[in-house]
Amino acid sequence: MKVVRTVSALRREVARARSQGARIGLVPTMGALHEGHLGLIRRALRETDYVVVSIFVNPTQFGPDEDLDRYPRPFAADRRAARDAGAHLLFAPAVSEMYPEGSATYVDVAGPLTAGLCGRSRPGFLRAVATVVIKLFNQVQPDVAYFGQKDPQQAAVIKRMVRDLDLPVRMVVCPIVRERDGLASSSRNRYLSPEERQQATVLYQALQRAEERFASGAREAGGLKRSMRAVIRKAPDARIDYVEVVDAETLEPVKTIERPALVALAVFIGKTRLIDNTVLRPGRRR
Ligand code: PAJ
Repeated sequence: MKVVRTVSALRREVARARSQGARIGLVPTMGALHEGHLGLIRRALRETDYVVVSIFVNPTQFGPDEDLDRYPRPFAADRRAARDAGAHLLFAPAVSEMYPEGSATYVDVAGPLTAGLCGRSRPGFLRAVATVVIKLFNQVQPDVAYFGQKDPQQAAVIKRMVRDLDLPVRMVVCPIVRERDGLASSSRNRYLSPEERQQATVLYQALQRAEERFASGAREAGGLKRSMRAVIRKAPDARIDYVEVVDAETLEPVKTIERPALVALAVFIGKTRLIDNTVLRPGRRR
């Protein structure tokens, strides 16, 4: 696996692979690679011939009070993990390579997709994600790009951008990878103390509670949200950012579940903000 730091070296390597007829897969990440990321890389390896993994802790998508400075950057371990997974090229640009002096252009996906959930609690976040992802698409020009359902609003925004701007890339959204006790794998899990790690299982437990109630016929979002909040409140260090039930396509809040609904949570455990979600599908056995 080759490591490149500049856009020109990246383009050179990808052009070489493409000239040999390879279909190019892209897995964008911020590093601190875990099983969730590795799942995307493995899927990309199954479906494309040449897999580019990007590691870039994108400063613009962090708010002023967020964790940019302490975001984990275990580069040597990440390089090994990407190589061992079978990735062909690792693109790890410096901030100055991605955002040259004077950089001033953004892609802003407007409307209901970005109005709620993380779009509400992290202003500017989705715009920064869309912008860095379109840059990565332009730099790599992948045939297929791989994202995780762990970040459903991000995936929806990028899908919208691909459609709206006619980007020649196919998007694949992969299922959430979880640890043994159900906690969704996340780079931010590293922040949790052992005690907080234990408490963090309430996110998944809350989603399971919603799934159980849905399976026994509950369709009212209000009741589902109340019972999820009750589960989360059992963790003494949990503070709810949001518990929402939204339309799985439009991400608009729903009152009664009649079409596939995304149940999405953002919860602080101590200082660490975690997100998780599940999709409830009426009229289909789960
Ligand atoms: P990051 O949080 O590193 O995640 C990179 C990709 O891995 C995202 O598509 C995310 O949804 C996916 N992912 C993370 N945890 C997962 C899990 N437990 N199961 C399945 N997929 C998982 O998301 C970002 O980086 C950034 O916003 C990025 C898209 C790279 C733009 O900067």
